[in-house]
Amino acid sequence: MVTGNVPVLSLIFVSLVSFSSSFTPSDNYLLNCGSPTNTTLDNRLFLADSTKPGSDSLSAGQSISVLNQNPPRNSPALYHTARVFTSSSGYRFNIKKNGTHLVRFHFSPFVARGFDLTSANFSVMVNGILILRDLHSNNSSAVVREYIIEIDINEVVIVFTPMNDSGFGFVNAIEVFSAPGDFVIDAGVKLIRADRIEMYKNLSSQVLETVSRINVGGPKLTPFNDTLWRTWIPDDDYLVLKSAARRVSASHPPNYQSGGSSREIAPDIVYMTAQEMNRENLTLDARFNITWNFPVGLDPARYLVRLHFCDIVSRGLNLLYFNVYINGYLASGDLDLSTVTYHVLASPVYADYVVDSDDSGVVRVSVGPSALSSVLTMNAILNGAEIMKMVTVPIAETNSNSKKTNIWVLVSSVVGGFVGLCLALLALLLAIKCWTKKPKPRPSESVAWTPLRVYGGSSHSRMSEGTAYASPGPNGYFALRIPFADVQLATKNFDQNLIIGSGGFGTVYKGVLRDNTKVAVKRGVPGSRQGLPEFQTEITVLSKIRHRHLVSLVGYCEEQSEMILVYEYMEKGPLKSHLYASGLPPLSWKQRLEICIGSARGLHYLHTGSAQGIIHRDIKSTNILLDENYMAKVADFGLSRSGPCLNETHVSTGVKGSFGYLDPEYFRRQQLTDKSDVYSFGVVLFEVLCARPAVDPLLAREQVNLAEWAMQWQKKGMLQQIIDPHLAGQIKPSSLKKFGETAEKCLAEYGVDRPTMGDVLWNLEHALQLQETGQRREPNEDGSINERELSAPGIVTPFQASNIRQDGADGNQNSNISTTEIFSQLMTNEGR
Ligand SMILES: *[C@@H]1O[C@H](CO)[C@@H](O)[C@H](O)[C@H]1NC(C)=O
Ligand SMILES: *[C@@H]1O[C@H](CO)[C@@H](O)[C@H](O)[C@H]1NC(C)=O
Ligand SMILES: *[C@@H]1O[C@H](CO)[C@@H](O)[C@H](O)[C@H]1NC(C)=O
Ligand SMILES: *[C@@H]1O[C@H](CO)[C@@H](O)[C@H](O)[C@H]1NC(C)=O
Ligand SMILES: *[C@@H]1O[C@H](CO)[C@@H](O)[C@H](O)[C@H]1NC(C)=O
Ligand SMILES: *[C@@H]1O[C@H](CO)[C@@H](O)[C@H](O)[C@H]1NC(C)=O
Ligand SMILES: *[C@@H]1O[C@H](CO)[C@@H](O)[C@H](O)[C@H]1NC(C)=O
Ligand SMILES: *[C@@H]1O[C@H](CO)[C@@H](O)[C@H](O)[C@H]1NC(C)=O
Ligand SMILES: *[C@@H]1O[C@H](CO)[C@@H](O)[C@H](O)[C@H]1NC(C)=O
Ligand SMILES: *[C@@H]1O[C@H](CO)[C@@H](O)[C@H](O)[C@H]1NC(C)=O
Repeated sequence: MVTGNVPVLSLIFVSLVSFSSSFTPSDNYLLNCGSPTNTTLDNRLFLADSTKPGSDSLSAGQSISVLNQNPPRNSPALYHTARVFTSSSGYRFNIKKNGTHLVRFHFSPFVARGFDLTSANFSVMVNGILILRDLHSNNSSAVVREYIIEIDINEVVIVFTPMNDSGFGFVNAIEVFSAPGDFVIDAGVKLIRADRIEMYKNLSSQVLETVSRINVGGPKLTPFNDTLWRTWIPDDDYLVLKSAARRVSASHPPNYQSGGSSREIAPDIVYMTAQEMNRENLTLDARFNITWNFPVGLDPARYLVRLHFCDIVSRGLNLLYFNVYINGYLASGDLDLSTVTYHVLASPVYADYVVDSDDSGVVRVSVGPSALSSVLTMNAILNGAEIMKMVTVPIAETNSNSKKTNIWVLVSSVVGGFVGLCLALLALLLAIKCWTKKPKPRPSESVAWTPLRVYGGSSHSRMSEGTAYASPGPNGYFALRIPFADVQLATKNFDQNLIIGSGGFGTVYKGVLRDNTKVAVKRGVPGSRQGLPEFQTEITVLSKIRHRHLVSLVGYCEEQSEMILVYEYMEKGPLKSHLYASGLPPLSWKQRLEICIGSARGLHYLHTGSAQGIIHRDIKSTNILLDENYMAKVADFGLSRSGPCLNETHVSTGVKGSFGYLDPEYFRRQQLTDKSDVYSFGVVLFEVLCARPAVDPLLAREQVNLAEWAMQWQKKGMLQQIIDPHLAGQIKPSSLKKFGETAEKCLAEYGVDRPTMGDVLWNLEHALQLQETGQRREPNEDGSINERELSAPGIVTPFQASNIRQDGADGNQNSNISTTEIFSQLMTNEGR
């Protein structure tokens, strides 16, 4: 864009190796402008820009060196000189390596040789892009402006242009150096809009101007202690409500991992400090966000918001779930850093969001606890924030007011000349019009999970909730393949003595892998392709998700017409065997509550977490497994289905599931929603409380179906009459009441009346709290109750087992499955 006619200082310096950092940029130019001597600042050597006065490249009369005779005490030598430009002129730097570069300008005005630098008024262009317009400063404080620019033409040409005939521009120092290769990448960037979130594709081609760079919860960092010689400032002045936040810091350096953030993206200390929620004020009823307002000015513009996270507050994995909002829009919901970091605590990640400014003059960033978080772990954190403005001013506009003789060179070099200028101005006007008219409706509910569905992740070094989910490894789930020989070895060639279960799918063996991992090996009937869809579903679903409360898939084997799934071994087996008919010691009420809470959390994660809205479809007490510490994990995803897509409320599907747990609405209408899992979970809750099977044909007719029977007692308010005798005297009435109400709501006839798993989780935690403290939760002062509480239902008709049969036969005549078929399916699934 810029022709060679523009006078420039040609600088072909050798790149300087930096001493203060392990990062060595390929290109590294540091200029002490207007000075005949080199000088050092923050351990970096800035070279004299006029070592050869009178050199050909320096046009006489167009740039002048000036020296501050009376510099303020403590001001660095770098700021004692400046170069003044009285017409369009500047510097050219040869670039060895294409890619992202950082360009910094230091402006520290003073009065010298008849120039009052505070009255300068000028613009700056880099490679023909106008990055700074009408720069002027009416006081003498030093200002550093930083730009992040993609360079692909082997040179950086910087041109300073005075804004009027008698005006001038100046600069004290310039830095031009290569950024690390992954500093700005295009994958995984979210564009946050009022009504939706979409992928932002062109980040690396944007010129970015740093507006704020914040070390949240930490100290000020100077170029001396930053890997890329940046300045990070504390967040305190930006906190909207200081009492909402509390500083935390870690004593150990963060666990950098490939695929996460790096020291160059932000230095250790940014990730080792954070603000978390001030828990003193945090109660069940009073949730709040931590909010920062970062001033950005009122001009309409688009901003990159880069947020840095490192979980230095949790004691374990999958304990911290929080929401991130930008300008009031949900930007990341139910963020679980453990998932994003492939299950390493205190591992740094960052997320890039693009957002348009509104008329508030600030970019507002909030973090707050998600509905997934438990009472004890409710928290939210932020370690660092960078706000960068996208520089989009078209070139032609710069010089429209200037009459300098050499300006025509610039303008004529623009393709299309005048036409281009008009088009550019028109585009700018239109853009401004669109920006200012931007409406701001509340984000719709669906935004909460849309991004997780829409965006596959990148394998690059950034956080993208999609990543952890979408790609278990570079080879997809093939990475989980296990050779048949290894499976044979692990199970002593399928030793009968190692069988721990069997069912419709086949046989389950206990096994030990070469690395001594205990596993459960599920082997389909060899040679039979029966159950192939379930086999494949299980692999695709489980290879994508990892969660503390979901049984994880260790591997699978598809060799020699085998269908084998290998899971983590769950020492204590299915929940069911700890409830009845096994002779195992009974579980305490607290243990039972914790198991229910754990499985609810796993299920809630399936429904809403980064797992893309999966419906399990076969929740029952045999599919909830316990590890050696009685921690619950949801298992058996063979029937699971992806949830409804945007704008759909359900998935139409053939009815599958287990008798006694089956959602009557799903059964009748064959429309699957996550509320079907909620129903089945309600049955499990009563099973846990009453210690009897969901269906027991040997009992009196009104007792056969647990859901029906327990609901009758619950409605009479006499639930305590039918609880497991082992629990007698153990359950506090308030805890039982909460638990009963929760189960009752789960079993509501219609899905819409049932709570979400998040609500169920919340209420179970409350039941546990009531059991532990015996306290009742009081309504709010205005008499309302917290919205998370289950509101009084409409008329709830308990689902009747006998009805199912009739409805199944009479109500589904259009459907192509017969009742018998359903039941045979259910029966074969029962033992899996
Ligand atoms: C400044 O430093 C460069 C590189 O070390 C050196 O070549 C040059 O001679 C120095 N200039 C002066 C004026 O000291
Ligand atoms: C210049 O001075 C005005 C009035 O004192 C002030 O509002 C403005 O912020 C100053 N601008 C700069 C760049 O310092
Ligand atoms: C100069 O202006 C800047 C930006 O407006 C302001 O932050 C700073 O405090 C001012 N300094 C003085 C000495 O007025
Ligand atoms: C940089 O990119 C330009 C244009 O794509 C190309 O001509 C040039 O050779 C590249 N330079 C380097 C050092 O790769
Ligand atoms: C800088 O120059 C431009 C163009 O002449 C003018 O519009 C603007 O008001 C000037 N700014 C100051 C602070 O003088
Ligand atoms: C041009 O700028 C100089 C210095 O900033 C100022 O003194 C002069 O009034 C300006 N002239 C016009 C025409 O704007
Ligand atoms: C995005 O980048 C592509 C390729 O770099 C380019 O063709 C396209 O015009 C860019 N779009 C925008 C909106 O900048
Ligand atoms: C950062 O560097 C300054 C010196 O510029 C030093 O005083 C300070 O202790 C350093 N801070 C950290 C956190 O390393
Ligand atoms: C926290 O409690 C203190 C003291 O009661 C109060 O001043 C402050 O506003 C509270 N903060 C929040 C975020 O509720
Ligand atoms: C947190 O902030 C978001 C966006 O402003 C808001 O929708 C949400 O209700 C807030 N949460 C709490 C608990 O205040």
